[in-house]
Amino acid sequence: MKFFVDTAEIDEIAELNDLGMVDGVTTNPSLIMKSGRDIIEVTKEICDLVSGPVSAEVVATQANEMIAEGRKLAEIAENIAVKLPLTWNGLKACKVLSSEGKMVNVTLCFSVNQALLAAKAGATFISPFIGRLDDLNIDGMELIADIRQVYDNYGYETQILAASIRTVNHVTQSALIGADVITAPPKVIKSLVNHPLTDQGLAQFMSDWAKTGQNIL
Ligand code: G3P
Repeated sequence: MKFFVDTAEIDEIAELNDLGMVDGVTTNPSLIMKSGRDIIEVTKEICDLVSGPVSAEVVATQANEMIAEGRKLAEIAENIAVKLPLTWNGLKACKVLSSEGKMVNVTLCFSVNQALLAAKAGATFISPFIGRLDDLNIDGMELIADIRQVYDNYGYETQILAASIRTVNHVTQSALIGADVITAPPKVIKSLVNHPLTDQGLAQFMSDWAKTGQNIL
């Protein structure tokens, strides 16, 4: 399963990238706003750092403008995936941009039917939002499982990019279901390492080692 980092913060991307944990990056208008950076400049910096797909989202709502924005974003670097919302206009833009050979990430997906439409429009990635469904007391993981089944039933090649990941459990469940990619904030990716028994075991080893009076170096 590939790990994308859901942020536009260069330092956080660089830190995880140095560890080989970054297969790609996703951004959205809210993350660009949080970064306080110019979208073109910060996206270029991310693309220089990371060789995998970097999603940059359009903000137009009409198909022709979405296509124009998508083409401009795709000029930033070869690894740009144009991110489009799951609306009819977004699907029209998806069809055009994917036919031009551009990677497209269709975002704000909350149903299997929406995911079917995105696959038929040629999306490279579909982004179902787990956490925002959980917020409404709807099981976000069930959506990932259902999309996996439907895509496998018909051999769609669109990659399932599990998004709006808030917990380490979302990561585990996505991997068990067979999502192709997860995108998560850096803090969630970093917390995947945590286990109290690891901390407890290490403390015991250190305490016993001190009693030996030995040094390795
Ligand atoms: O990039 C989209 C996505 O992952 C949003 O997450 O936590 O704002 O629902 P969140």
